[in-house]
Formats: sequence, structure tokens, C-alpha cells
Amino acid sequence: MQNCDYNKPQMNAARKRTKTTTSVVDFAIPKSAMEIGIDKKYILLTYGCQGNESDSEKIRGLLETIGFSLASDETMADLIVLNTCAIRANAENKVFGELGRLKKYVKAKPDLIIAIGGCMPQEEIVVEKILKTYPQVKIIFGTHNLYQLPQFLERVMSNHNRVIEVLSEEGNIIEKLPTVRTSRSKAWVDIMYGCDEFCTYCIVPYTRGKERSRKPEYIIKEVQSLIDQGYHEVTLLGQNVNSYGLDFTEYRYRFSDLLQALSQLPIERIRFTTSHPKDFSTDLITVLAKQKNLMPAIHLPVQSGSDKILKAMNRKYTKADYMDLVDKIYQAIPDVSLTTDIIVGFPGETESDFLETIALVEYCRFEGAYTFVFSPRVGTPAAQFNDTVSIDEKMQRLYRLNDVINQGFARGNHRFVNQTLKVLVDGRSKGKADVLSGYSEHNKLVNFRGSKTLIGTIVNVKITDAKTWSLAGKLINE
Ligand code: SAH
Ligand code: SF4
Ligand code: F3S
Repeated sequence: MQNCDYNKPQMNAARKRTKTTTSVVDFAIPKSAMEIGIDKKYILLTYGCQGNESDSEKIRGLLETIGFSLASDETMADLIVLNTCAIRANAENKVFGELGRLKKYVKAKPDLIIAIGGCMPQEEIVVEKILKTYPQVKIIFGTHNLYQLPQFLERVMSNHNRVIEVLSEEGNIIEKLPTVRTSRSKAWVDIMYGCDEFCTYCIVPYTRGKERSRKPEYIIKEVQSLIDQGYHEVTLLGQNVNSYGLDFTEYRYRFSDLLQALSQLPIERIRFTTSHPKDFSTDLITVLAKQKNLMPAIHLPVQSGSDKILKAMNRKYTKADYMDLVDKIYQAIPDVSLTTDIIVGFPGETESDFLETIALVEYCRFEGAYTFVFSPRVGTPAAQFNDTVSIDEKMQRLYRLNDVINQGFARGNHRFVNQTLKVLVDGRSKGKADVLSGYSEHNKLVNFRGSKTLIGTIVNVKITDAKTWSLAGKLINE
């Protein structure tokens, strides 16, 4: 292909961390790109974590600022953007499958632009594969280049060439990006970007750059503006929110300080994800226990219950440290709902390591978990570890673990039967027109009959029944 603009990823460069301070840059759309989307339609497909969902709301903001509007389906689209996830092989395979499926739309409409962004383009092997196998992809952009999407579109629209712009850098903070939010009652709020933990299995530190915290004043202003727009719930986002502020050099301001400040604002619900156990401070537990609008649901990924495996994962805590932390949390917030992430079949995991994980799950009384089979990611240390556990054994462990997790899930639901819960109504329950659904303060899915005028409000629901994956209840009129 002629005149390609290349800026390809380099995982080795992405590994680098220096002491350079993070620049905060205010975003502005270049004038030349201002109207390029007028009369054009887009589709945006999002994969991966809440961080990606939040990024997608910014991608929508950028596209709609330059004139694009949402297409009703793919056949109507002039632009299809895939915001991708690289966390496990199956996440990537889904995207490759989707790229294959989209080929027919490009055949039917040669001007259709397919753009791929997010974490996958930060990997060399992915970019090589796209260049070789998927000529229908016109724009490949990385996580550090998201805000430049209008320029990339302008370039492709004016000369029809491919754009590959993936920076492998530590990363800056771009403020004031336009955002189109999906919900009108609950919102994501990024409080930090990147990750410096380098868990040996994980690709995120390479795809997202160094850990960098947004300044508290920007976050507080954003939450205040959400309150002014009528939002009832915010979820603060970061790969490890507990290390928020560790990168501030001019003052000491930590995650507990941020939560304390935000809890003083008139917003009903504040959540956060994800917490790394090693940085979960006593100050944080104190603030969480004290403030009514900090929700009693904590996601605290443990990954494994074996000290040998935790060490090999570079998690920087032991099973005893984790149990101690869980004890402290239950002591301060007795009715808290704890959930977690667990990886089974990590290289070297024996049956007895696995049984330690099961025992820890029971000890911690988790009410839910995301469970995964280890997936080697090229460029991460664990991909080189000697892995002797057969895939069959790994799958068996996953099923056995899920049985225990599901019992905890059911227990976590049953404990609310006959209680009246506050539910933030998301919308109609899938498949049933007169049934509404929403989430309780403990993050339990609740279904009940009610009028659609309640969508976006917080209502009281008396729980009558615990189903396998949700609670059923009756609306209580105040
Ligand atoms: N930053 C968050 C997690 C982000 S990734 C944290 O540290 O808690 C979400 C989850 O994906 C992780 O908690 C882990 O359980 C899982 N995961 C990450 N890399 C993986 C891999 N290579 N194979 C399988 N699961 C993985
Ligand atoms: Fe990945 Fe570990 Fe960072 Fe979480 S804390 S994103 S698991 S490296
Ligand atoms: Fe996936 Fe990137 Fe999030 S790899 S989990 S989308 S940070």
C-alpha cells in the first residue's frame, strides 16, 4: 500500500517507566476536522473493561462533535469503530472474528471506514496480523492516540490511505474530551490511567502506559457537573484506584482523601473499581465505613489463594495479608458485599495450590467473581513460564471454582429476601415489557413490576424472592 502513515507499537518501549512528570493537556478539535462527519453515520463496538466503556463514551463524544451520528445498524454506517481488549486470547479472537464478519460491508460499500482502537493495537503481533490479513481496516489507533481520531479520519477521508498511529509511551493526561454518556443516571469517571503493577500475566501495563492520576479538582468538577445533570451514581475508574495520587509530587493526596471529598457532594451513590489489595489502606476502610453514599460493594481481585502462585504473579501480598484485609473490611462494614477476580491454571499451579484458592474463597465469603483460565500474553513474563498443567485440568478447575463461587452468589442474594432495598432503575428487564430492573446499593440485580417513568430514579423495592442470578421484589410506594 502506498503512502501509509506508520507509527507502530513497540511492547519493549511500553515496558519503560521513568520519573518524568505527566503532562496534562487540554483537548481541542482541529478546525479542519470540525465538520468531516456531517451527514455520516457511525457504529461503535466496545470490548473489555469499564475503562474501555468510558473511552468509548469519549470516542462517541469526538465523533458526534465532528458531525457523525449513530447509525441504526451496520448497513447504514459510514464508519465502524472497534474499541478492543487484549486481556486474554479469547477477547482478541472475538475481535478478529468480528473483523472477518465486517468484510462484507466493505465489499458492499467501498468507502466504509473500519477503525480499530483500544488495547489490541498496542501489541506488535496484532498490528502485523491486521496489516497482513485484514486490508479492510483503514485506521489502527492506540490507547494513547484516542483523542486524535478526528485527525486520522480526516487523513483517511482525504487520501484513502491507511493510518497506523500507535504510540508506545508512558502517557499523558488529556482533559476536556467531549463525552457522550450511555446512561443518564450513572456515569463512569476516570480517576487515573495506566498501571505500574506489572503482574506477570497481565498486558495492561504495556497497553495503557504508566500509572497517572487526574488532579482532584478535575475529578470533583466532573462529578459536580454530573450531579447538576441529574446523575445519581458515579463509578470511579482506574486499574488500581488504591494507588491514586501516589504519582503526585507537589502534595500528598490519596484515594481516601478523594473519596472523602467526593462523599461530601450531593450524590447518592459512589462506587469504584478496581482495588489492588496491596494498597487498600486503613484510612480508606475508615472513610468507606463512615460515609453513607460510598456503596457497600467492594471488588477486590485476589487472583489466587496460594502464596507460591501469588509470588509468581508478582501480586505483592500473601494469602495471610489478604485474609487480614478482608477481616478488617468485614469488621468495619459488616454487611459489605465482596467480589473478586481469580485466575486458575497459572503456570505451576498444583492441585494443592488450587485447593488453597477454594479455601480462601470460602473464608472470604465472596458474593461473586470473575473467574478465568490463565491465558499467556506475548511480551509478558508469565508467557515464558513453564506451564505443565493440561488444558483439561485447567477447565476442570474453572468449573469446580465456579461451583463454589455460584454458591456464594446465591448466598449473597438470599440474605436480602424480605428486606427493602434502594434500587437505581436502569430500564426494562430483558424480554419482559412491564418488568423493570436495576441495582441495589450492594450491587445486586433486582427485577420488579413498575412504570417506565421510574427509569433513572432510585426506588424502594421489597425483596420477595432470590432467583439464581437476580432478586425479585415489589415496588414500595412511599
Ligand atoms: N486492574 C485490575 C484487573 C484488570 S484485568 C486488577 O488488578 O484488579 C481483569 C482481570 O483479568 C484480572 O483481575 C485477572 O483476573 C484477569 N486477567 C488478567 N490477565 C489475564 C491473563 N493473562 N489470563 C487470564 N486472566 C487474566
Ligand atoms: Fe493487570 Fe495487575 Fe495492573 Fe491489574 S494491577 S491491570 S492485573 S498489572
Ligand atoms: Fe482489556 Fe485493555 Fe481493559 S486489555 S481489560 S480493555 S485495559
